[in-house]
Amino acid sequence: MRTQFIAGNWKMNLTQSSAAELAAGLVSELDGNTDVDVAICPSFGFLAGVAEQLGSSHIALGAQNLYPAEAGAYTGELNAEMLLDLKCEYVILGHSERRHLPDLSESNAFINLKIKSAISVGLKPILCVGELLEEREAERTTEVVEEQLENSLTDITAEQMDIITIAYEPVWAIGTGEVATPDQAEAVHGNIRQWLRTRFSDQIADATRIQYGGSVKPENARELLIQPNIDGALVGGAALSVDSFTGIIENA
Ligand code: PGA
Repeated sequence: MRTQFIAGNWKMNLTQSSAAELAAGLVSELDGNTDVDVAICPSFGFLAGVAEQLGSSHIALGAQNLYPAEAGAYTGELNAEMLLDLKCEYVILGHSERRHLPDLSESNAFINLKIKSAISVGLKPILCVGELLEEREAERTTEVVEEQLENSLTDITAEQMDIITIAYEPVWAIGTGEVATPDQAEAVHGNIRQWLRTRFSDQIADATRIQYGGSVKPENARELLIQPNIDGALVGGAALSVDSFTGIIENA
């Protein structure tokens, strides 16, 4: 009932030409595969070039961040309108690197403003949540994830949830090669769905897609993606090559 959704987070990688080449490679490999929803999220600077490669393919474009304000004096920032203008359909918000890099330290309140800003123009947020290793070891995973959901989604209505995807990304699994086991991931995804049921409704809980992220590769994708509450993946490192990204999509 929920279509699997695989998104590639290219982070701060590639060059204008290698980004365009990767996008073109994905278009030619994935042409005709419409069983899975796919998005790629390059750096701001490569959005226009990648959009050109994607053309009318079914691969959607996403950005990795936005600044929640109308146009104005915000040096170095891009807002939701600009991302729409650059042909973005999605935006990753609340990524753990933005929450936890000391010079960024994004709060749930700031992420909430970004979510509201995105949905006000119809840009679809992928909201990332996830616990640190020490939080998992202290058995605080549920508490941390629920607090992130609660405060990132303050004032968001059930209707607005229609365009929001959630990505559960345990911080200890991101870029480390240490993937959560299918059981560990499924347990948290089940809790997130239960939280959505209580906070919104059965309908929203059943319709919202919850991606897993953290060291997803073609070799471990299937065992994660067959879990009942895992509806796709947010992929970092393995999204940077045509073979590994399409290998994950083939397992979805
Ligand atoms: P990874 O990154 O796949 O390289 O672990 C995932 C993410 O940060 O979204």
